[in-house]
Amino acid sequence: MEGKVIGISGSVVTVAGLKNPKMNNIVFIGEKSLVGEIVKIEKDNAIVQVYEDTSGLRVGETAIDSNEPLSVELGPGLIGSIFDGIQRPLDKILAKEGTFIGSGVKVDSLDREKKWHFKPKMEVGKEVSAGEELGEVKETSLIKHRILVPVNKHGVIKSIAEEGEYTLNDTIAVLENENKKEEIKLMTKWPVRTPRPVKEKLAPNIPLLTGQRVIDTMFPIAMGGTAAVPGPFGSGKTVIQHQLAKWSDADVIVYVGCGERGNEMTEILSTFPELKDPKSGKPLMDRTILIANTSNMPVAAREASIYTGITLAEYYRDMGYSVAVMADSTSRWAEALRELSGRLEEMPGEEGYPAYLGRRVGEFYERAGRAKLLSGKIGATTLVGAVSPPGGDISEPVSQNTLRVTRVFWALDASLANARHFPSINWLNSYSLYKDELDSWYKKNIAEDWPKLRDKALATLQKEAEINEIVQLVGYDALPEADKLILDIARILREDYLQQNAFDDIDTYASMSKQYKILKLINQVFDSEEEALKRNVLIQKIQEIPIKQKISRLRYTNEDEIDDKIKEIELDLEQIKELNGEK
Ligand SMILES: Nc1ncnc2c1ncn2[C@@H]1O[C@H](COP(=O)(O)OP(=O)(O)OP(=O)(O)O)[C@@H](O)[C@H]1O
Ligand SMILES: [Mg+2]
Repeated sequence: MEGKVIGISGSVVTVAGLKNPKMNNIVFIGEKSLVGEIVKIEKDNAIVQVYEDTSGLRVGETAIDSNEPLSVELGPGLIGSIFDGIQRPLDKILAKEGTFIGSGVKVDSLDREKKWHFKPKMEVGKEVSAGEELGEVKETSLIKHRILVPVNKHGVIKSIAEEGEYTLNDTIAVLENENKKEEIKLMTKWPVRTPRPVKEKLAPNIPLLTGQRVIDTMFPIAMGGTAAVPGPFGSGKTVIQHQLAKWSDADVIVYVGCGERGNEMTEILSTFPELKDPKSGKPLMDRTILIANTSNMPVAAREASIYTGITLAEYYRDMGYSVAVMADSTSRWAEALRELSGRLEEMPGEEGYPAYLGRRVGEFYERAGRAKLLSGKIGATTLVGAVSPPGGDISEPVSQNTLRVTRVFWALDASLANARHFPSINWLNSYSLYKDELDSWYKKNIAEDWPKLRDKALATLQKEAEINEIVQLVGYDALPEADKLILDIARILREDYLQQNAFDDIDTYASMSKQYKILKLINQVFDSEEEALKRNVLIQKIQEIPIKQKISRLRYTNEDEIDDKIKEIELDLEQIKELNGEK
């Protein structure tokens, strides 16, 4: 039955006359058929949050209940796409509307005309259950799109399509289950606010490698893990997320640009399509989905965008992939939530955010994980959320609620950013709760002494901070030689290891083997200087050996030249061994 608009407050619209309105159902509002979602039911009225600009909408216009929750379309064609927060393809909207995204523009999320090459992998007569692979479509040069038996469906295969070209709506298989026939197509749908089911969650004991030294070495994230990147304005949150999108070893990347300035998104939209995947040399967009809801787009769609993103990620996880989701920034998402809550006249909690902010943040990160899938295969969804606390003060609600649930904390620091120390991840207060769980992986796959080297480096950096406080009191010259040594090594660690220039062709990415070799070398320097101190050699004397400049060039050294350069430096270390002090 048709309803009528009886009240409009910005993006929140009150509708009367719907028959049995249900929470989260999609309602089409007014002449333009704007997309909205029922977020509250008051007596018989439905309160609808509209995902499009409501200007021009008038009381008295009609509203139609779709009787379906807010859902995304799932099927070949997702990868390489650029969507808005409710999965409308931005490029197609732009083509239809010129430069401006108008309201009520109806375009399918996925192309209905395009034909995909389907290859069956099952035979007639086989009994299949949810999650099993019926066949595959080569979606891009990097991704094989596995066509699975949809969640909640099972049965005996009555027919399955031959290898050939099919559109998303063509039936590629028919299942029979207690005389009921079910047609399977290349495309399915899923409600964004409902997590897709898995068999069981697995321990996060494999790292998601990122090629970023401060992350992989000091504060690693697990595949299927969660990380928060809080930082003040301009501290490098977006650059870190871009780096992870470009270099992390996930199979699929979902990048959600949520409420950030239009130009940050333009930067992605213009740079990503030109980037190459470092492992394969293929276009990066062949493994990437972009969701853009910039600050100039409707606020309600921004609230939906992170759910759209995570649902698309779960869909690829279910094919057995490792998927990483970047959300930049979850603060803008929370602000959208606050604005909508205000319009709903809900009782405000801390700083005007709704009282359920913490629960929503928790539910979002809860969707991360490495998991045994319905099919028995393994897949993972890793979630990395940027947080932009006003003034950089993380005592505010969004940061606090995020830190309660995420297990990695990369604390970006304004003073480091001002000093051009990038990534500005503060090594003194950042942490990774996965570190211990990942140690056995690092020992087995990188080197037995990896955890030891890392812990020693972290301890050195911590000692540096303590010594620096003493320096303030007594001055550098009064320090014991052993402390001067710590300062020396810590400086190398900071400047030549933790710092990493995202915009340098070589430094932008460091393989694990490169990271290990440099870390080990710095440790060797530490050891030989310590030995020299025991022979009463002064730090000043050691500093005359031109080793530091060479170390500082290592990060700009190509992976295949690194061994030679390290050998050279090891020869220089011999010179330190020959130094002798006075008794
Ligand atoms: N790893 C890096 N290497 C080199 N430069 C960097 C790096 N990270 C950040 N920067 C510099 O810092 C600038 C700001 O970074 P970025 O835009 O990521 O900050 P942000 O925290 O996202 O800011 P905002 O709060 O405005 O969104 C970049 O334009 C770049 O010049
Ligand atoms: Mg940013």
